[in-house]
Parts: sequence; structure tokens; C-alpha cells
Amino acid sequence: MNSAIDFINEKTNNFKPVTGIILGSGLGDFADEFEGIRVPYAEIPGFQASHVAGHKGLLVFAEVAGKPVVMMQGRYHFYEGHSMQTVTYPTKVMKKLGIKNLIVTNAAGLLHKEFIPGDLMLISDHLNLMGTNPLIGKNDDDLGPRFPDQSDIYTKDLRKTAKEIAAKLNINIKEGVYAGLTGPAYETPAEVRMLRGLGADAVGMSTVPEAIVANWCGINVLGISCLTNYACGVIDRQLSHNEVIETADRIKDSFKKLLFEIVKAI
Ligand code: HPA
Repeated sequence: MNSAIDFINEKTNNFKPVTGIILGSGLGDFADEFEGIRVPYAEIPGFQASHVAGHKGLLVFAEVAGKPVVMMQGRYHFYEGHSMQTVTYPTKVMKKLGIKNLIVTNAAGLLHKEFIPGDLMLISDHLNLMGTNPLIGKNDDDLGPRFPDQSDIYTKDLRKTAKEIAAKLNINIKEGVYAGLTGPAYETPAEVRMLRGLGADAVGMSTVPEAIVANWCGINVLGISCLTNYACGVIDRQLSHNEVIETADRIKDSFKKLLFEIVKAI
């Protein structure tokens, strides 16, 4: 970990971000709009190369709305075969770089018809259905406790701020529970019924590991899902990754505006 921090500090001339942003599928463009220092994951000690379509694999250090920010253009997914340690390593690195807030974004499937594709959803809480936990293993007591409380992972204060900003921007933002599964296969209709029964509103294949680790090490988390599609069985049709990317692309302008104003405010 120290070699990653030393490497980044040298590349960025000791840039000190206050907010980290993980940009999910189809949402990575946000970072392209800012001048800054771009460090490929592949060069950072401890980072692995990332290879999902639509993910660049760059850590971008830039001033956003006057605030020092580090953005992940692309993330590691458990379904790629990466360990939970690899998936959450960048979150720990961002903590060591000094971030206080982490904005985690993703594309997610909708579990019921109260929301529609293209809606944005603030994550109020999550269900970890990945069958494992990123904190398993020896605990690093310098970063966080062995048995962390999880009663307010997606902090109320950040959600309140995000809701106020969305209202000002005339963006209709929803709020709900995100279920994190491993993927990479989309859910079956029976699984979608199960998830609804468990109280989830949206389903995806990311975010939960990073949020667990961020909460553990004392970072305030804000989670925003771009609801790209009805999950399988909610409506009668087959689901493809293209549908996810197309919807994310369609709403990315309002998503970017919202993100910019949130960063400015926190
Ligand atoms: N299921 C799981 N993950 C997803 C979906 C979905 O329907 N859409 C985008 N990510």
C-alpha cells in the first residue's frame, strides 16, 4: 500500500483529494471533462489492469468545481475473477490519500415498476448478496475496526445534500435499496422476485464491496445508481449489456450536472 501512495504522490505532486468518485458503466465520461493528472491503474503498485468494455482503468486527479477530487474511470468487478482485496484496494488507497467522501456510481437493474429506466436512485442501504465480505481476513486496525457498524453506510447528510441539489436542478431522483450480486449472468425472473421480496429496489454487480470498505475506514459514502433497465422478468423481454450502456448514455448529461454540483457542495 505504501508503495502505491508514494508512487501516486510523486506522479501528482502530493495532490490531496477530499472526495473520491467511482464512475460506473457508461458513466466514466465525467472525468474526461477535467484537466488533471491521469494515472493508468496498470502502473500503480498493487492495482491490476481492468478490462471491461466501457471502463478505461485510469485514476484521474483534478479540481472539480474548485474541489480536489480523485476519480476512478473504471472499477474492478468480482465477476472478472478479481479477489475482493483487488476490488477494494483502490478504496483503501483513496482513504490513505485523504478522501473524506466517496461517491460510488453504478448502472443497475430495476426490480419494480415504480421506477423507470433512466431514473437516478440514491442508494439508501444495500443488501450484500455476493456471498462473501471484503473485510474477511486479517484486520488492518490502522484503517478500521474488526466489527464495523453499518447502520449509516450511505450517510443521511450526503443523501440530504444530493436530494436538495437534484431538486434545484429539476432532476427527479429516487431513493432505494441496492442489492449487490456477483453476476456476471443477469438474474433469473425467480431471483428478481426473491430480491423484491427481500426489500431491494435495484440490483447490480458492484458498489457493495467498495461501500463496505469505505464505511469501515470512516469515509462518508454517497451511492448513486443509474437505473438502466428493468431486471429480467419485470417486463417480458431479454436483457443485453447494450441496453445498459444505451440508457446510461442517454441520461449522462443530467448525471454529470448532478455530480458536479454535489462535489461543489460537499
Ligand atoms: N442486473 C444486474 N446488474 C445490472 C443490471 C441488471 O439488470 N443492469 C445493470 N447492471
